[in-house]
Amino acid sequence: MMLYSPPMTSLLLLLTVTFLLSPTQAKTNLRILPLGDSITWGYGSTSGSGYRGFLLTLLTASNSSFLNDNITYIGTLTSGNLPPPENANEGHVGAVITQIATFAEVPLSWTGALEGDVVLLMAGTNDMFKPNLSLADAPNRLGVLIDEIVAAWPKAAVLVATLTPSALGSTQTNIDAYNLQVPGVVNARAKAGNRTLVVSMANITVGMEVDGLHPNDFGYGLMADAWYGGLLEAKSKGWIQGETSGAVLIKGTSLIQWFGVVVLTLWNCV
Ligand SMILES: *[C@@H]1O[C@H](CO)[C@@H](O)[C@H](O)[C@H]1NC(C)=O
Ligand SMILES: *[C@@H]1O[C@H](CO)[C@@H](O)[C@H](O)[C@H]1NC(C)=O
Ligand SMILES: *[C@@H]1O[C@H](CO)[C@@H](O)[C@H](O)[C@H]1NC(C)=O
Ligand SMILES: *[C@@H]1O[C@H](CO)[C@@H](O)[C@H](O)[C@H]1NC(C)=O
Ligand SMILES: *[C@@H]1O[C@H](CO)[C@@H](O)[C@H](O)[C@H]1NC(C)=O
Repeated sequence: MMLYSPPMTSLLLLLTVTFLLSPTQAKTNLRILPLGDSITWGYGSTSGSGYRGFLLTLLTASNSSFLNDNITYIGTLTSGNLPPPENANEGHVGAVITQIATFAEVPLSWTGALEGDVVLLMAGTNDMFKPNLSLADAPNRLGVLIDEIVAAWPKAAVLVATLTPSALGSTQTNIDAYNLQVPGVVNARAKAGNRTLVVSMANITVGMEVDGLHPNDFGYGLMADAWYGGLLEAKSKGWIQGETSGAVLIKGTSLIQWFGVVVLTLWNCV
């Protein structure tokens, strides 16, 4: 029979093997929850999107390490000029750490626990100038918030920012003391196996702020650079592989397909 002549069988084998060994497009559903206060909301930026706009630009640029990923910002609020759903966030104006913890309950109740989920957390700025809140206890409150996130979404990468500076009164002294504690809070959890890491916002200065508290566009751009670096670090740790399509399908069927190849080869040899 023509179809089963040795050259034709070899061709079929070659095509099958090429198909099986061809690189597959793994697409990560990268869900990002920007969580915090007015700085996460984007107050003071001309776009209204703050760092979230600049970060999305970095993540979707042709030189991005996340180019093949399906990137979606999530949250109960919307602000800024990004097209929906990318304007979603959980940045509550004026919120202190404990209030952010309460607001976080809503998005954390959504289907989570997927690899590919990322939380960008920046909390504490408003705690720094509230006379009725303990400053010394602020790092503990941050830790409680991180534990809440990890308990709800154990596979998510939780990136925790140090605070950007302030020109308001003695606030900077408080921020300096708090920022010194942040790595200890975050790294203790990482040591315990939590997917937590610190993102330093030390590159932002008060000269890059519109009101001595909220970054201007340049400052928000530097914040985006810092978050991007944190995302790269999380990726290198294998924390954001995500739900994939394509590769999984091929892996799942490959045994059956190899069986077919073997049968075809044996059949051709006899
Ligand atoms: C992209 O991710 C979002 C959020 O996880 C999901 O709703 C959407 O279906 C995904 N889109 C594609 C094309 O996979
Ligand atoms: C990608 O290129 C742009 C424009 O040159 C640059 O601003 C950005 O930092 C680059 N991103 C990365 C991840 O290297
Ligand atoms: C501290 O004061 C603010 C108002 O400035 C209030 O919203 C908050 O509930 C107070 N917190 C505590 C723990 O008393
Ligand atoms: C996170 O760390 C806590 C200890 O702080 C530990 O009890 C918990 O099992 C860890 N969770 C994960 C998912 O590693
Ligand atoms: C801070 O700025 C320096 C110089 O541009 C850069 O190399 C570094 O990656 C930045 N750090 C962060 C955390 O963004």
